[in-house]
Amino acid sequence: MNKVATKNSLVVNGKKFQIEKLDYDITLLDWIRTKLNLKGTKEGCNEGDCGACSVLVIDRVSTKPRSINSCLVRLGQMMGKNIITIEGIGNTKNLNPIQKSFVRNNASQCGFCTPGFVISASTLLYSQKEINEELIHDTLSGNLCRCTGYTPIIESLKKIKNTRLLPPKFIEVGMTEKVQIGKAIYFHPKSLNELLKLLKKIKRFKFLSGGTDLNLEREVYTTSSRHLICINNIKELSEINFTKNTLKVGSTVSIEKFLEITDKKLPQIREILKRFGSPLIRNQATIGGNICTSSPIGDLSPIFLVLGTKLNTYGVNGLREISLDRFFTRYRKNVLKKTELIKNFVISMPKKDYKLFSWKFSKRFDQDISTLSIAVLVKIKNNKINDIKIAAGGVSEKPEILYGLSQLMIGETLAEGIKKGTDNLVKYVKPISDLRGTAEYRINVFKGVLRKLDISLRANKEHKSFMEII
Ligand SMILES: Cc1cc2nc3c(=O)[nH]c(=O)nc-3n(C[C@H](O)[C@H](O)[C@H](O)COP(=O)(O)OP(=O)(O)OC[C@H]3O[C@@H](n4cnc5c(N)ncnc54)[C@H](O)[C@@H]3O)c2cc1C
Ligand code: FES
Ligand code: FES
Repeated sequence: MNKVATKNSLVVNGKKFQIEKLDYDITLLDWIRTKLNLKGTKEGCNEGDCGACSVLVIDRVSTKPRSINSCLVRLGQMMGKNIITIEGIGNTKNLNPIQKSFVRNNASQCGFCTPGFVISASTLLYSQKEINEELIHDTLSGNLCRCTGYTPIIESLKKIKNTRLLPPKFIEVGMTEKVQIGKAIYFHPKSLNELLKLLKKIKRFKFLSGGTDLNLEREVYTTSSRHLICINNIKELSEINFTKNTLKVGSTVSIEKFLEITDKKLPQIREILKRFGSPLIRNQATIGGNICTSSPIGDLSPIFLVLGTKLNTYGVNGLREISLDRFFTRYRKNVLKKTELIKNFVISMPKKDYKLFSWKFSKRFDQDISTLSIAVLVKIKNNKINDIKIAAGGVSEKPEILYGLSQLMIGETLAEGIKKGTDNLVKYVKPISDLRGTAEYRINVFKGVLRKLDISLRANKEHKSFMEII
């Protein structure tokens, strides 16, 4: 590891940059383009939807390069990290294997999207996984192209499926405690102790984790001076611990990492996690951030709710344990105090005689926010519904366990329980109509879910995509 200790620094394409006197707060994308004059990284939507701004990041924790949307992160949160832009991947004199394959297979037309695709695709060459069509599609699900129709891009990657590259080495640039960028001050505590000292000292602040939600609130950064406490370097917040019956997982664990660690032990949630944004989003977004947005359509909430998740918080008043079903209070609000954050989640693994289902409905299959998401944990005994917990997002102002509906079905035969649930659904579920779907649509989809639950249980199938036919 190359050691150069300088605070307030980051590395781009192997070169160290120290951040001094920037007079306005800035995204990583704008900084790369305007201050470093690296124009290969493009700006499209500026909100995480198109992938034109994709870059690779390496940090102390995950030394394997991961792709992110540079439009979604602020420069102030990237201190100490190593960034690789398209200019660091290859150039016209020295094309990397993906670029060569793109040229040979006509995978670029106007070329605007190409740097983003090459960046996302390069993670394949650093990975140990077998490169198959499913992996290629998933890897590129956050990148949009309006010219090629995607086929030549996919074909060009299939042609290099046996090529592997060694990841670039992480270059250490020392730890930053705080950095001021424009009116924003970014603090970087490394432990809960350091965090506590900060919490006692500064008054108006926001916790910043991945930033894929908070950073979209642009006025936060531009209208007034702000203190942002970046929590991703706090080591106690990234711990993961499996026991026989529980999974304890730190709040700053990324969605992609969560997908990786639950892949074998909780395969029932794989599809919903795979459909969480794109790898670009999942590499940056955290599970703590997802729950703390307290969004009615956050994808993790219904699953965490049916699994009886408890969360441990940390703050100036010490530690406390809160059951997730008491966490959300109203639209995008929760019970956390201003000086309190989520330290970790304790998720109960489903018992052997229980089956778990989770389904997400959105306008597009990939890279879309849910219209409705539903999780069900159910136990069938002697052909009756012995126990059931149904939780949903997108049917009211907060994600919730539908206790009334669940209770109604307990003790009934499967057929009777599903019928009772379907017939009485509107008493327990009162969705609103919005851009994503009307209330009537949501009710109809929910009825479809109950039917799918019936079919899956009869076929004794637990882990089924909604799209699959049993
Ligand atoms: C293009 C795009 C696609 C998306 N797709 C999906 C999707 O498919 N499904 C989905 O559910 N969401 C999706 N999201 C929303 C978002 O990515 C997720 O909610 C994500 O998990 C937020 O995590 P974060 O670490 O980025 O949160 P941040 O933006 O860092 O924080 C969000 C909020 O939580 C607070 N916070 C964060 N961590 C903690 C903590 N440990 N303790 C206390 N407070 C905390 C912050 O102060 C802030 O108020 C998408 C967003 C974008 C831009
Ligand atoms: S510019 Fe579209 S995802 Fe960043
Ligand atoms: S080649 Fe034009 S947008 Fe992809």
